[in-house]
Amino acid sequence: MKVQLVTLIAACLLPTALSEGSSAVWCYNLPSCNSTTWPIDIPEHCSGTKQSPVNIVTANIQGDASLVAFNFAGFDDSSAVLQIQNADGKSVKVSLDDSKVNVSGGGLPGVYVSEQFHIHWGNGSSSAGSEHTVDGKQYAMELHIVNIKSIYPNVTAALADPTGLAVLGFFIEATSDSGKPQSWKNLTSYLSSIPNNGNTLDIMNTITLNSLLQGVDKTKYYRYNGSLTTPSCNEGVVWTVFKDTIKVSQDLINLFSTTLYINTKSGPLITNNFRPVQKLNNRVIKSQVSSASTLYPALSISTALLIYTLSWL
Ligand SMILES: *[C@@H]1O[C@H](CO)[C@@H](O)[C@H](O)[C@H]1NC(C)=O
Ligand SMILES: *[C@@H]1O[C@H](CO)[C@@H](O)[C@H](O)[C@H]1NC(C)=O
Ligand SMILES: *[C@@H]1O[C@H](CO)[C@@H](O)[C@H](O)[C@H]1NC(C)=O
Ligand SMILES: *[C@@H]1O[C@H](CO)[C@@H](O)[C@H](O)[C@H]1NC(C)=O
Ligand SMILES: *[C@@H]1O[C@H](CO)[C@@H](O)[C@H](O)[C@H]1NC(C)=O
Ligand SMILES: *[C@@H]1O[C@H](CO)[C@@H](O)[C@H](O)[C@H]1NC(C)=O
Ligand SMILES: [Zn+2]
Repeated sequence: MKVQLVTLIAACLLPTALSEGSSAVWCYNLPSCNSTTWPIDIPEHCSGTKQSPVNIVTANIQGDASLVAFNFAGFDDSSAVLQIQNADGKSVKVSLDDSKVNVSGGGLPGVYVSEQFHIHWGNGSSSAGSEHTVDGKQYAMELHIVNIKSIYPNVTAALADPTGLAVLGFFIEATSDSGKPQSWKNLTSYLSSIPNNGNTLDIMNTITLNSLLQGVDKTKYYRYNGSLTTPSCNEGVVWTVFKDTIKVSQDLINLFSTTLYINTKSGPLITNNFRPVQKLNNRVIKSQVSSASTLYPALSISTALLIYTLSWL
């Protein structure tokens, strides 16, 4: 029980809790515990049929009129962004004040309070590290904002609901600028203060979520039902993956794979902390209904032809 609770608080990551449970040690970097071993060592969920991440095949997207705009509360509030940490040598995690930050709308069944965000990356410019891919394309990094349905007193309770968690995923794409944008320059400037496993730094009142997400049209996104992308891979996540990317200069992206260590500076750096894509199986990925795909099927063929013909005039 305790193991699951702590794992879910970290949502996409948090191995400390699991390491208490002997056989459930997992990692990204060693053959003995990398993601190919998770379905064997942690079979309850990691071997399921609704796992994440997945490759998003845009040709197979289904339009869904319920995927309206979100309401984002607290995304401009720098007092709600609390602490940055080297999260167990697996990622960098920033904790949020869940009484101030929450998400609703967006076709989600209720209000979800925001607990934290964390990032997945590859190895600088030599390899990409997003978890989701789009038509096979992997981006440089992926940021996940982890949210819990607000009707639940704790994550253990949220676990029993297949839509108990909502994760917002944002792709980060490299640009050839340097030190851009300022929000990411600020965020990455804290990394050198948390090189070792477990290091933390208070960053309250220095950064907002919206400044990190700049350039993204948050009304355009993909939606599917999946899982946590780290053990114990629970299948209780409503996934939102935004179509637009956050543009961050390559020099700042490089800091993630060159500044943070799995244990301490005498050991390996955190690199390639992403899970490869999983089988979609019988799931469908949905998105906003485009005008083309809604309008024409709804009309008779002759009317559609007329509109088509008129559009040439
Ligand atoms: C995990 O380790 C195995 C064995 O070395 C290797 O074949 C596989 O590519 C690794 N997987 C990942 C995702 O690193
Ligand atoms: C959502 O956040 C706002 C402040 O940003 C707060 O007033 C509201 O009570 C929160 N809602 C929930 C359900 O936590
Ligand atoms: C990451 O890239 C650096 C420099 O390109 C290289 O030296 C290192 O071996 C790479 N690390 C991994 C784990 O591939
Ligand atoms: C979580 O909430 C449920 C439902 O209210 C309760 O039964 C359970 O004891 C709580 N668990 C923890 C760990 O707080
Ligand atoms: C970056 O940090 C500086 C100094 O703390 C602050 O004044 C500025 O508002 C921050 N900018 C962004 C976009 O976060
Ligand atoms: C996800 O599952 C819920 C029920 O658990 C269902 O109502 C919803 O339509 C599913 N969403 C997608 C995108 O398939
Ligand atoms: Zn994640």
